[in-house]
Amino acid sequence: MKHDAILVLDFGGQYCNLIARRVRELKVYSEIVPCDMTAEEIKQLNTTMTVKGLILSGGPWSVYEEDAPKFDPKILELGIPILGLCYGHQMIAYYSKGKVKPGTKKEYGIAHVMVDKAVGVLKGLDSKEKVWMSHGDTVYGLPEEFEMLAYTESCPIAAFRHKTNSIYGLQWHPEVVHTENGMQMLRNFVFEVCKCEPNWKPESVVDKAIKEIKEIVGNGTAIIGLSGGIDSSVATFMAAKALGERLLAIYVDHGFMRLGETEYVESTFKNLGVNIIAIHAQDRFMKRLEGVIDPEEKRKIIGEEFIRVFEEAARKIAADYLIQGTIYPDRIESGFRKHSDTIKTHHNVGGLPEDIEFKKIIEPLRDLYKDEVREVAKIMGLPNELVTRQPFPGPGLAVRIIGELTKEKTDLLRKADKIVTDEIENVGLGDCLWQYFAVLTETKSTGVKGDSRAYGFTIAVRIVESKEAMTAGFARIPYDVLEKISTRITNELPQVTRVVYDITHKPPATIEWE
Ligand code: XMP
Repeated sequence: MKHDAILVLDFGGQYCNLIARRVRELKVYSEIVPCDMTAEEIKQLNTTMTVKGLILSGGPWSVYEEDAPKFDPKILELGIPILGLCYGHQMIAYYSKGKVKPGTKKEYGIAHVMVDKAVGVLKGLDSKEKVWMSHGDTVYGLPEEFEMLAYTESCPIAAFRHKTNSIYGLQWHPEVVHTENGMQMLRNFVFEVCKCEPNWKPESVVDKAIKEIKEIVGNGTAIIGLSGGIDSSVATFMAAKALGERLLAIYVDHGFMRLGETEYVESTFKNLGVNIIAIHAQDRFMKRLEGVIDPEEKRKIIGEEFIRVFEEAARKIAADYLIQGTIYPDRIESGFRKHSDTIKTHHNVGGLPEDIEFKKIIEPLRDLYKDEVREVAKIMGLPNELVTRQPFPGPGLAVRIIGELTKEKTDLLRKADKIVTDEIENVGLGDCLWQYFAVLTETKSTGVKGDSRAYGFTIAVRIVESKEAMTAGFARIPYDVLEKISTRITNELPQVTRVVYDITHKPPATIEWE
């Protein structure tokens, strides 16, 4: 069954991802696409979905900048409703020969808009609405065929619509929570203007993914990289449903796994009836990582070595396909967006070498966010323990050891990590946290142990709350739990003299330290 879809044209705005997320919360499928996708390309997407609306995202540009991203003006003639937000709003006005004043400085924060006409996207709203704005350019004149819907003190045209076509512009961001009735505005666009059916659910991908895997692999065989994290676990379970014995799940122990992980993953998946092997490749990974301190280089090396190990295993069983548990945020953060920065290369995306031996890489979860993957996992009947596990990065503890990697450091961190995990789970906090782990910093510091001076490692404890890892907040853990963690780490690990708690949100930090 084809689902109704809203495409978000990505002009590099920091909230772009949130727009798609909000539309999905309304049970309508939404996907982020490059901002220069042509009208023709949009039409072609209709073979797999029914494109019912386009949202032009914000972006850090002025329409007057020479290299500012542009859209194909023909999309305005597609007859598909369009909503421009912020930069999208300014661009629609600019392209339609409205008047746009270049901003000299950026204004951002809460604004009160006066709603002149509560119609279309603004239907049912009050005459005064609290919204979140962040803009440089300002629209101050519209051509004949448009009408102003709302204004603020500094924006004479804060919202507009085309008089006959379903084209809207909002200077503000309805997708952020600070816009009080933002969800109502998006609901209006999605249901009133675009007439979408709210029939998309994350689990809609299950049948589609199983069918896709069957079609691509045909009578061949595939392998999947199984790390034991929720993403690769769900992808493995899906692929096993599609291929049965023709799927080999390969768990690679690269030496940076958590304590007891290898045994746990092997036994869990064997019990689920999945064909699985564990490859012990600690030495070859450590050899390649010797002396490497740059985090991106570490990630790239691990990503590449993973593929080489997979290829060797695949050759043995003549597998042509590689299945991976890549999810949507991995792709975004690995820089598939044209106008945003690469933050870090997740090993299962940007870290892939160019000369891959597989016929194709299949990523059945590529369009899902983490919490959606969890929903899928529940629906598919995966054990609760697996469903609620905290995410674990592909490169594992390697990106939690700052600086050079050694076996000693890795063993030390493994033990510290186990203490953090146990103490958090013992007090029942695990279920409400996104991740909780230890990081081995490069900082050494002085301490006293017994009666003598000690000079040892500093462990940082990172515990965060998050919904889908794009943003995260450090968790306000009770002091007695933190104290227990700190006491146990310094008592049980003599090499550690200091434990610190990371109180940085994402952004500006990322969740992992490297
Ligand atoms: P950051 O550190 O980018 O992490 O804020 C966001 C989420 O992604 C996980 N993560 C990874 N997952 N391969 C993965 O499969 C990776 O290379 C990787 N790096 C980070 C991280 O644990 C967090 O949940």
